[in-house]
Amino acid sequence: MKELPKFYNNLDLTLQEIEYLLNRGVKDRKSSFHYTMLCTINNKTPESRTVILRNFNKDKFELNIHSDSRSGKITQIESNNNVSCLFYDDKKKIQIRINGLAKIEKSYQPSWDKLTNWSRRCYLSEHKPGTEVVKPSSGFPEKFVNESPNDEESIEGLKNFAVIKVIIDSVEWLYLASQGHRRAIFKIKRKSLPFSIDKKWLIP
Ligand SMILES: Cc1cc2nc3c(=O)[nH]c(=O)nc-3n(C[C@H](O)[C@H](O)[C@H](O)COP(=O)(O)O)c2cc1C
Repeated sequence: MKELPKFYNNLDLTLQEIEYLLNRGVKDRKSSFHYTMLCTINNKTPESRTVILRNFNKDKFELNIHSDSRSGKITQIESNNNVSCLFYDDKKKIQIRINGLAKIEKSYQPSWDKLTNWSRRCYLSEHKPGTEVVKPSSGFPEKFVNESPNDEESIEGLKNFAVIKVIIDSVEWLYLASQGHRRAIFKIKRKSLPFSIDKKWLIP
């Protein structure tokens, strides 16, 4: 039988593992936590999509995701900012479900400054994401298919660039083990500063 990890029966170590996985997700493209499934509410219907985890702020317990400010998810968040992010690491057998409130920061320069001109191409499409077209298209100008825009050309994309900040309310943990699964809930209590985290085991 597989040896059990130190966090198996320890809520503090479980929280440490969550923080470690989210941090690694930001930095390591190969980590399963580099991607998350962001779920929003479209009128009354849930809608999910894969997005990249761009930042985890441990001091504020917030996540950052980048997107086109004209995309459907942004419109949905503007009318209902309750969101959920789902992560799963198949090797570690760990799932985490984050619920929180999203805040949109349009044309957020500090995050834009960290992008390469190659990545900024995605924000150069003339039509908004999801627009129906007759011919298949990347959306951005043809000349950027093989060539990166220069600084002057790429800055055009800033007006379409947005950071989705997820202010975390709760993190639900699930660890699968043949000896018995472990499930826990961490609630971020923001009424007092610095915030506190309420930790509880749950039946899996
Ligand atoms: C691996 C992968 C990573 C993605 N990363 C992002 C991302 O970081 N931000 C984003 O807006 N869309 C990303 N997408 C595209 C979204 O999944 C989605 O198709 C698109 O944003 C339109 O979603 P919406 O119409 O619901 O807004 C990614 C897709 C895949 C497959």
